[in-house]
Amino acid sequence: MTDDSLETAIRLSDPLTPMAIRVAASLGVFEAVAAGNRDAASVAAATGTDTAVVGDLLTHLAGVGALDHDDAGFAVNDVTAHFLDDGLLKVHLGLDTASGLIAHGWWGLADTVRSGGPGFDVVAGRSFWDEVNATREMSASFDDYIAHGVQFWAPDLIAYAAASPARSWADVGGGNGTLLAQLLEADPQRTGVVVELPRSAEAATAFLDANGVGDRGVGLAGDFLTEVPAGYDAYLLAQVLHDWPDDDAVTILHNCAAAAGTGGHVLVVERLAESGQAGMSLMMANLFGATERRVDDYLALADRAGLALTAQAPAADGEMGILDFVVAH
Ligand SMILES: C[S@@+](CC[C@H](N)C(=O)[O-])C[C@H]1O[C@@H](n2cnc3c(N)ncnc32)[C@H](O)[C@@H]1O
Repeated sequence: MTDDSLETAIRLSDPLTPMAIRVAASLGVFEAVAAGNRDAASVAAATGTDTAVVGDLLTHLAGVGALDHDDAGFAVNDVTAHFLDDGLLKVHLGLDTASGLIAHGWWGLADTVRSGGPGFDVVAGRSFWDEVNATREMSASFDDYIAHGVQFWAPDLIAYAAASPARSWADVGGGNGTLLAQLLEADPQRTGVVVELPRSAEAATAFLDANGVGDRGVGLAGDFLTEVPAGYDAYLLAQVLHDWPDDDAVTILHNCAAAAGTGGHVLVVERLAESGQAGMSLMMANLFGATERRVDDYLALADRAGLALTAQAPAADGEMGILDFVVAH
């Protein structure tokens, strides 16, 4: 064993650095340095923090390459630029965001690995969805977190939908309507709904309005484990099933199939574990006692819900897939 391997072992196992980065992002430390505050005292003044401790924080961040440090003091570098990026900063690094909630939940991972159940619930004392929906701010933060990821696969789904005769779309668990807005913008003949928990349904109605498609799309509050509204040509389940263990996933598929009726379509968009998704799968296990799945796993769940695959297409450069099911019986 070399000194290098010991250093690597310590670096890999010490949670200080990820926490230091999230704290610096949350307290505006990176912005303060970017604005030209080059020493601890001026960063502390700019951020309302303790000079001695923020000095140690800056020194640690410089030591791991998250900042530069020279005779003139601290400065931002190419790595810091990512922490200053609005998307990453707002969506992934803030401690008081949904991403911070997810990070907090990792303390339950040992429970998850032991039992397969959601360690998040052990840490938080309630489910992830209850925690996310406890306040309007946290619900909006989760909607933002999710909407940020939509850009990676939405163009493939829009392209796939262009060849579909479906006019009316139900985006079931469709967050704040980011995808539905794009679907409606792409074809003025389309109408649609987002079926969501109450806070997100409200956010979706507002988002669709703000994007000029409020006359053709609306958010509907509902619980997809209980019932999905009938009357739409196509039902979309994007990154929904991976949040649920098998039996719940079958219930959701079954409710969509019942709403779609024989011959109707249910489209599933998911990461497909063939492309290697162990990290995301661990997150699904920790948050929900669920998992990423392979195509065959989705086919088996769909079969239990009376759905048969009619077509399949890649999304997000092959990292994800669109599985188009028809209601067989
Ligand atoms: C991982 S997000 C996927 C959002 C969106 N479809 C996407 O791919 O970007 C799962 C969504 O399911 C919603 N959800 C969770 N439980 C629900 C329930 N019982 N009924 C309806 N929606 C629910 C959440 O609010 C969340 O927006």
